[in-house]
Amino acid sequence: MKNVPYFFFAAILLCLQSCNTNNWETSVSSPSGNNSIQFYLSSDGTPNYTVAHNNNMVIDTSSMGFDFKDHHPLRGGLQLIKTTLNTQDETWEMPWGEQRTVRNHYNSLRVELEEIEAPNRKLNIHFKAYDDGVAFRYEFPEQAGRDSITIIDEHTEFQLTGDHTTFWIPGDWDIYEQLYQTTKVSEIDAIAMRDHPNLAATYIPENAVNTPVTMRSDEGLHLTFHEADLTDYAGMTLKVDNETLKLTSELVGSDRLGHKVKTALPAKSPWRTIQIADRAGDLIESRLIENLNEPSKLDDVSWFTPMKYVGIWWEMHLGLSTWDLEATQDMNTFATLGQEQTSTKHGANTENVKKYIDFAAANGFGGVLVEGWNTGWNYWIGFEDREGVFDFVTPYEDFDIDEINSYAKEKGVQMIMHHETSAAPRTYEKQMEAAYELMQKHGMHSVKSGYVGKIIPKGEYHHGQWMVNHYRKALEMAAEYQVAINAHEPIKGTGLRRTFPNMIAREGLRGQEFNAWATDGGNPPEHLPIVAFTRMLSGPIDFTPGVFDIGLPTKPNNQINTTLAQQLALYVVIYGPIQMACDLPENYEGQPAFQFIKDVGVDWEQSKVLHGEVGDFVTIAREERETGNWFVGAITDENTREITVDFDFLADGKTYKALIYRDADDAHYRDNPEAVVIENMDIDSGMSKTFVLKEGGGLAISLMVE
Ligand code: NOJ
Ligand code: CA
Repeated sequence: MKNVPYFFFAAILLCLQSCNTNNWETSVSSPSGNNSIQFYLSSDGTPNYTVAHNNNMVIDTSSMGFDFKDHHPLRGGLQLIKTTLNTQDETWEMPWGEQRTVRNHYNSLRVELEEIEAPNRKLNIHFKAYDDGVAFRYEFPEQAGRDSITIIDEHTEFQLTGDHTTFWIPGDWDIYEQLYQTTKVSEIDAIAMRDHPNLAATYIPENAVNTPVTMRSDEGLHLTFHEADLTDYAGMTLKVDNETLKLTSELVGSDRLGHKVKTALPAKSPWRTIQIADRAGDLIESRLIENLNEPSKLDDVSWFTPMKYVGIWWEMHLGLSTWDLEATQDMNTFATLGQEQTSTKHGANTENVKKYIDFAAANGFGGVLVEGWNTGWNYWIGFEDREGVFDFVTPYEDFDIDEINSYAKEKGVQMIMHHETSAAPRTYEKQMEAAYELMQKHGMHSVKSGYVGKIIPKGEYHHGQWMVNHYRKALEMAAEYQVAINAHEPIKGTGLRRTFPNMIAREGLRGQEFNAWATDGGNPPEHLPIVAFTRMLSGPIDFTPGVFDIGLPTKPNNQINTTLAQQLALYVVIYGPIQMACDLPENYEGQPAFQFIKDVGVDWEQSKVLHGEVGDFVTIAREERETGNWFVGAITDENTREITVDFDFLADGKTYKALIYRDADDAHYRDNPEAVVIENMDIDSGMSKTFVLKEGGGLAISLMVE
């Protein structure tokens, strides 16, 4: 971070402003004054901004502009017409979430610009300064003679003020499932990450990173770049200039349509966001992204209940059963994923499903997911022409949908639907309504959707505007049938769950499944301590924790790179309103540590990040709604470390029955991962306790109100 006081730059800017801004107010500070944004037009009429945190420049002079398809660029030649300052301080309630109430408190500045020369096009820039970061979006007002704009490129710059340590994944237009890299900005090389052998679709055209991307300066300040309210627009990656340390927006394009965004006027871009935190944990506690979205459009989502679930899923990834009925495609469909052929039976058969329903009912799980229940799986991965293949209303003959749903109902369990679209969204859209109708008929309120493979039609990408609109269409139609969506291979979360709380969770990261078959040895122990401070800032995650048989005996080349105690801790650390216990039911039998999964909450009154550093470790405490029970989760990377938990977050004057699940003294993710020690004791808010997290280890504590 540059150590030049911000007022020095402000003075220069003031001079620039007075030349061309008619003395309009062009800066705005957050309510506490810690973050401020300065806007100005350079002498050629190009919009610029800077951002300061505690009077230190964190984003130096950065310009803004657009290239359009059928008219000349909007990058200069602008004059300031008007600016408006505003303040907002409101509190809203999350129907489910990491906390019940959220304060949305900011000061804003709207800048209205117009071209000096004909055709005198207009552009507004709306800045918001929060105590936990800053944001701005572009507004394209109605313009005489134009009813739409076609954007070829957006040029939003973020000029960094130091060569920060960056936790990044490449700016892939199709998938967010690469491993995070930790390098200086000057060393980011996304191109080296092309052609990943375990990904069915990946496209990295530039040296760019995907968002959220988190950085730590040498002085210990944290910055996360992302976007909020991605609506009818293309996803943004950030192109990296290794020398100037400048990031520039690089929108995902459509080769098929020859542009990046086409939208009717008036239009708004998503918010470009920078979360700013002295303490790494404050990034996780920040609700900036949700605050920048519209209030809920759904009157009532009480039909969706946060829940834990089990399902016919891990057994396929372990190669013990198949998605397709014939079991002929078998693991050959996974050939591109380097899978050997080991499976012999179709997983989603009625008898097997009932076994999972019984297990769910006996252990208090709310839902059962079944993958491979419908026809189409024999033309899945590896098939070019997947259009028209999957059928979302026709079960395989050994899956008795009526019987299964009434059996589940009798047992008080809800079936979770699965729609693998195989990245053929047009086929899905044709059947979507009928598919959600079928769910409603059976009282099913959530669906896991999937988009594995390259998008059909060719030339579209998962993160482009066309797909952004598809994911939204699914959400809107699902809401009409009281269906909530957990999308895999999704568009990234941008806080839309505030507006559509039936957007319950997403994958959008390298999930647990990679541990079963990745040819690079699975997720390394640092993966989730990075994810908590990067991907998790975009919203709830369907990571599917809970593997107890960590050595994966049917997979000689793979194992989970965490201890069992860490698998427990993930239920608290990695937030989602649905949490799977993904292992095979038999692997939980006779396991005392299973009690934690049964007890742990999924819907929270409040959450506190007790400590953590990006990529190293993190400890989170969450209070369950209704019960007032607290749960603590801590995870570490490949290094063992000691942490002290101060229980001052507990309610005063109450004693809590604590069950502590910690790594045994000789536990290690590599050769002794399952060694867990369970202790019980009474704990109150005056106590603190030191724990050792072993290599790749974790700590999980349940604190039940007496
Ligand atoms: C990829 C998803 O992430 C995974 O969870 C699912 O099992 C397969 N697609 C099949 O849909
Ligand atoms: Ca996936």
